[in-house]
Amino acid sequence: MDLKTKYLQFELKSPIVLASCGLSENIGNLVIAEDSGAGAVVLKSLFEEQILRDAGLGTSYKLKEFSSIDSYEYSVKTTPDSYLENYLSLISEAKKRIDIPVIASINCITYHQWPQYAIIFENAGADAIELNIAVSPTDHDISNDDVLERQIKVVSDVSNHCTIPIAVKVSNHYSNLGLSLSLLESAGADAVVLFNRYFKPDIDIETVELISNSDLSHPNEITESLRWIALMKRKLKCSIAGSTGVHDAAGIIKYILAGADAVQVCSVVYKHGINHIKELNAGVIEWMEKKGFENIESFKGHIALQESNTPILERLQYMKRAIREM
Ligand SMILES: Cc1cc2nc3c(=O)[nH]c(=O)nc-3n(C[C@H](O)[C@H](O)[C@H](O)COP(=O)(O)O)c2cc1C
Repeated sequence: MDLKTKYLQFELKSPIVLASCGLSENIGNLVIAEDSGAGAVVLKSLFEEQILRDAGLGTSYKLKEFSSIDSYEYSVKTTPDSYLENYLSLISEAKKRIDIPVIASINCITYHQWPQYAIIFENAGADAIELNIAVSPTDHDISNDDVLERQIKVVSDVSNHCTIPIAVKVSNHYSNLGLSLSLLESAGADAVVLFNRYFKPDIDIETVELISNSDLSHPNEITESLRWIALMKRKLKCSIAGSTGVHDAAGIIKYILAGADAVQVCSVVYKHGINHIKELNAGVIEWMEKKGFENIESFKGHIALQESNTPILERLQYMKRAIREM
């Protein structure tokens, strides 16, 4: 059985990619990911917002430039310089210690910083860049078109300045998601990662405070990414990575059937350890043997390629007749 798949410009030995998260900022974990059979790793994002906070600049002006709702682990206690330096060392150390592609990730809040960091990462040896693009659209002065325009500009600026491939990791919060993904591809995205999963606020009624609801995903959160990957497979030429809701080999298989070239895993490895990737690969192989698929290509996009599935994938409303039919 052959698990090889093409993602970005790389031939990955497995479609399973360690997602950008707290685990992927540790070199030991990256080595375990490779030893366990991961096809690639995405490093923890470098957050410009973190650099500004550490420098005491705050983020009060952020909405004027480019806002971010990403709020993962901003509490790293480092000086601005060492935060960036540590990140660059992580890239170069990873390149020395592992052979699978090392994808660096950034999230910026000012335009000109995106290409600047991307170039620095490329020079440090990153094989590709993942742009962790996130917008909290709360500013009434910025129109829908402006929000998208800004993202397109970020992608085209990075693409014009870098020679390594670019993946764009997005949310599904767009007024016209299909068109937005096409425009991001035209701007230079070599891959789209569907979708990021953000910090989810909740309220503790005992302490009467804001809290984080759940850092880890639930398997039923896979559905929106599956829907959009299957819908976009025939419309985009770039690579597609599935992200969110993979908790077992079935999740990986579903993403590939929908049309994903690679599948990012985060919550499942937080729960079971990074070496669980070995079992995920084994589970995919077992299913392929059972179904008679010899390689990933033979079932990639199986759902997306059947036109009769499109109206079902596009369906939003529950209708009595539709539910009976399905
Ligand atoms: C603790 C934690 C830290 C994360 N940090 C990042 C990050 O720095 N950059 C990023 O793009 N995504 C980050 N993510 C999101 C994951 O990469 C992933 O997209 C999300 O968890 C959904 O995948 P899952 O269902 O496999 O967990 C983080 C997730 C968690 C739980």
